[in-house]
Amino acid sequence: MLSLKHVSKSYQNGSEVTHALNDVSFDIESNQVTVILGPSGSGKSTTLNILGGMDRPTSGTVTYNNNFINTESDKQLTDYRKEIVGFVFQFYNLISNLTVFENVAISAQLENKKYRNITEKYLQKVGLLKRKNNFPDQLSGGEMQRVSIARALAKSPKVLLCDEPTGALDTETSKRVFEILKKSKSKDTAVVIVTHNPLVAPIADRVIHIKDGRVDKIIDNPSPLEVEEVDWG
Ligand SMILES: Nc1ncnc2c1ncn2[C@@H]1O[C@H](COP(=O)(O)OP(=O)(O)O)[C@@H](O)[C@H]1O
Ligand SMILES: [Mg+2]
Repeated sequence: MLSLKHVSKSYQNGSEVTHALNDVSFDIESNQVTVILGPSGSGKSTTLNILGGMDRPTSGTVTYNNNFINTESDKQLTDYRKEIVGFVFQFYNLISNLTVFENVAISAQLENKKYRNITEKYLQKVGLLKRKNNFPDQLSGGEMQRVSIARALAKSPKVLLCDEPTGALDTETSKRVFEILKKSKSKDTAVVIVTHNPLVAPIADRVIHIKDGRVDKIIDNPSPLEVEEVDWG
């Protein structure tokens, strides 16, 4: 459904050019969890930002259901980000002066009369309905991340992109987050998780190994493990 073909990305800072991605090609499928795995600086966030329409490749193409994302106008790219993509960040990016409920509700489209039900449904799903009137700084890191996942899911995204979603969390809390992300894949929704932690790989349907801005290998896993079955060390 979502394809990168021969994508390269360079950043120019003054006279210095950084080649963040070199000729990267792979496909993301719905009903799958795809893990993008690689060390720090290998180009994972750059890849995710291009998949999410937050950045454009220097060369190569990005297609979503055979529509070119990389050549679209800013307006089309905005619509793609708004309607197709949900994003989960390492440091949650919640709005600190809005309650848990309000943080999720703003993404559940206030023009939608059902926004209250939608918001509560996803807060229930991540186990935080009871905390709906709390503010973010009254929650633990893991709880804030679960709110941010509820916020992303409240848009019913076709592509859920997660950049190091457990990068700031301990192992037990990370397991809960991975369980929720794994449950979020559906016939309409692809889940993409960026991480530097190789222990995450066995839960994925597909693992894309990135090294020095290139695809090192792509491994399809016909029988991914449950989060509980993984030895987290
Ligand atoms: N806006 C930018 N300007 C210059 N260099 C950048 C920019 N964003 C990323 N880079 C560089 O591109 C490379 C890949 O970065 P990134 O995609 O963030 O890697 P990762 O997420 O795997 O740690 C790094 O060398 C990084 O310094
Ligand atoms: Mg990164």
